[in-house]
Amino acid sequence: MEACKCEEKWEQLNEIIKAHRGQPSSLIEVLHKAQELIGYLPKQVLIAIAEGLGVSLSEVYSVVSFYAYFTTKPKGKYQISLCKGTACYVKGAPEILERLEKELGIKAGDSTDDGRFSLEVVRCLGACGLAPVMMVNKRAYGLLRPDKAVAVLQTYQ
Ligand code: FES
Repeated sequence: MEACKCEEKWEQLNEIIKAHRGQPSSLIEVLHKAQELIGYLPKQVLIAIAEGLGVSLSEVYSVVSFYAYFTTKPKGKYQISLCKGTACYVKGAPEILERLEKELGIKAGDSTDDGRFSLEVVRCLGACGLAPVMMVNKRAYGLLRPDKAVAVLQTYQ
């Protein structure tokens, strides 16, 4: 959680949990709201939700890991989504991924230590004609090659 807004966010989170106290069936809804509020789902948040709703922590973890939408790690300021759908895959997405991972020093699913970039692999972004494609936040970059993808990153440094 962002340090400066931590207390305020905990208060809001507690309100959300309070509204669903003892209601295990609200788990997904509460997780959604918590992630919208905080940006990700750190362990202490999952513990608070498990206790509040009356479900086991392992059940909470299994739901969080089942849905790709949920993340237990903070996202970077710049969120890189590399497409590994079929069109992008055959046009070289694996080589681009390898290069991005090397350049950033992280694996897909992680964020850089400085919080600047996070990298994730996604399915078809709906721009197959421009394969291979990646997005940085809401901006799309197509017809990539490994060097070009690195050059794109440098514009965000
Ligand atoms: S497969 Fe990558 S945009 Fe469609």
